[in-house]
Amino acid sequence: MMEGIERIALSTGGGDAPGLNAVIHAATLAARNRGWEVVGIRDGFNGLLSPDDYRGDGSEGGLIELTRDRVRGIIHQGGTILGTTNRGNPTAYPVQQGGAWTEVDRTPELLGRFKEHRIDALITVGGDGTMAIGHHLHEAGLRLVGVPKTIDNDLDKTTTTFGFDSAVDFASQCIDRLFTTATSHGRIIVVEVMGRYAGWIALNAGMASGVHAILIPEIPFSLEPVAALIADRERHGAKFSIVCVAEGARPAGGEVSILGKSRGQAERLGGIGTKVAAELQRMTGREARTVVLGHLLRGGSPTSFDRLLGLRFGAAAVRALEEGQRGVMVALNPPTVDYVPIAEATRRQKRVPLDCDSLLTARDMGINFGDEMPTYSTIGV
Ligand code: F6P
Repeated sequence: MMEGIERIALSTGGGDAPGLNAVIHAATLAARNRGWEVVGIRDGFNGLLSPDDYRGDGSEGGLIELTRDRVRGIIHQGGTILGTTNRGNPTAYPVQQGGAWTEVDRTPELLGRFKEHRIDALITVGGDGTMAIGHHLHEAGLRLVGVPKTIDNDLDKTTTTFGFDSAVDFASQCIDRLFTTATSHGRIIVVEVMGRYAGWIALNAGMASGVHAILIPEIPFSLEPVAALIADRERHGAKFSIVCVAEGARPAGGEVSILGKSRGQAERLGGIGTKVAAELQRMTGREARTVVLGHLLRGGSPTSFDRLLGLRFGAAAVRALEEGQRGVMVALNPPTVDYVPIAEATRRQKRVPLDCDSLLTARDMGINFGDEMPTYSTIGV
């Protein structure tokens, strides 16, 4: 027989994304309307793993009571009211032992804390890292449902994630602005966007704002075709060009540009925009500048699309728990929200398929991807 639920917890992990508060809002109301208590765990699982760090900050030992009052008016707010972290994976928690750093599995301790706080089930909101942790906790016996989040759109088994639309929308607005200054100065502007090892943000924002070249991780690039396109534009009187490069893009035969790596975190990508701009300036003789949009893409108010998706995901996660589902992730499968085994969602990253219609559309418009010499003038765009 299915065990009843009296109290659930919500947790947000990994990088923040616009729409997280919409999930918290809908999940809290849907749970409260079923008579369940709801608490939020501070900063991923850190609120439960290190409760002493949270004494006196308004949360009780790292937990926040999520009442109707607490979640009122947060749908439009960026970030997450619970806080988040991309450190502190409970399955490989970095600790110092005898002067040296090592990783320990704190799963049993974490499961004990859930019991101690009478938490019957968890809704865990995050990207691929968080879903992998969720899968592990599910296998260890915790009743949980995952909610997919990432601006990168690289989570498999869901058509999209909330956060992505807001990131693309803001990146497009920024690129629109870069057009006017690039045109005025007759410059090349290279704009670097986030996305890790997937080119979704670069492709979508680049297309939506009509850039001339897009460099994505899925297509290792050479700058000869891009420089040829810039020269062609110049011959036809357009002395400016805009290139949108994904942080994970890499030259053919070269490496991804990495800024560094901290303990317990994934490597930080970045720097490719500066390299591309310097090289294009050298190759074309035209002045080039770089703009890195970085964390601006994670900030701000979610678009209405992301608000709605967050709300739908949050309520669907509660319905899943009520139906007795566990170890599943809610997923957008238009027109509906489905449930998929969490393990399936973490099996591979969702990257831009080389035959997808967006990519074909971009190529049809003459946008260059650094893999083919331009065959016709792109002066029209
Ligand atoms: O996954 C979301 C993301 O914003 C990536 O696009 C980016 O590479 C990474 O997080 C940056 O994370 P951090 O918060 O560690 O700078």
